[in-house]
Amino acid sequence: MQIQGKTFLVTGGASGLGEASTRELVAAGANVIIADLNSDKGEALANELGDSVRFSRCDVTSGDDVQAAVALAESEFGGIHGSVNCAGIAVVQKLLDRDNNPADLDQFSKGVNINLVGTFNVARLVAASIAKRVAANGGPANEDQGVIINTASVAAYDGQVGQGSYASSKAGVVGLNLPLARELTRHGIRVMTIAPGIFNTPMMESLPEKARGQLETAVPYPKRLGAPKEFGELVCHIASNGYLNGEVIRLDGAIRMT
Ligand SMILES: NC(=O)c1ccc[n+]([C@@H]2O[C@H](COP(=O)([O-])OP(=O)(O)OC[C@H]3O[C@@H](n4cnc5c(N)ncnc54)[C@H](O)[C@@H]3O)[C@@H](O)[C@H]2O)c1
Repeated sequence: MQIQGKTFLVTGGASGLGEASTRELVAAGANVIIADLNSDKGEALANELGDSVRFSRCDVTSGDDVQAAVALAESEFGGIHGSVNCAGIAVVQKLLDRDNNPADLDQFSKGVNINLVGTFNVARLVAASIAKRVAANGGPANEDQGVIINTASVAAYDGQVGQGSYASSKAGVVGLNLPLARELTRHGIRVMTIAPGIFNTPMMESLPEKARGQLETAVPYPKRLGAPKEFGELVCHIASNGYLNGEVIRLDGAIRMT
């Protein structure tokens, strides 16, 4: 897909990996709808980046919110061609606490709801918009009508103690990838997932310096946290390389969490 002139919905687009994806897509000539809960950061970024960017306040677990963001893409830019789903939260909670009390079920569900159900919610509404446009134009005229890019994590494979909610939600995002890619072939829509290692984003900046240092030394090479720009560059490559489909790409400096 040629990115220039195309329109993408970027959830979690106000911060971290989503912000970097927004910046890289806009630099490549795309229009972007930033769909995020954080209105202050989202609006500031949209103002900074100019006419090709709009902000839509959105909770990815809400059908109405995501539909409104898709509708904004249609009304402002004439349609949508892809999504980059970066909205997510990291829930840390052991199954049992020090006194053997059980974990809070609502916390578990919250992580799965935002990370996994939210990803499905965005995929279904973006795919519907693209498929309807393609059908109205007489069917897929060429190979690349749309692309859906989701964000998992290496925790989908190498989950740590306390990551039950996070790791299982991200494993769910990995599991979603192939069925969606197979289903959407007839609409000319590709589906890809990125499983990032450890990236230097606000989510990570909340960790103490010592813990961040330990994480850095755990990366085989290069020995540093990933730069959000590197994630955004992969998003642009996936969007533009029409033969990438139905795959999960680890972007992780070869880290395998112990
Ligand atoms: N940073 C990392 O090391 C890392 C590693 C692996 C995977 N990931 C995943 O990448 C994604 C982005 O992470 P990040 O590090 O950029 O985090 P971040 O906290 O910097 O950004 C996440 C953004 O998502 C938004 N958000 C949260 N809940 C939302 C909701 N319900 N609806 C809409 N927006 C919502 C937040 O407002 C925020 O702007 C997440 O899914 C995360 O799990 C991050």
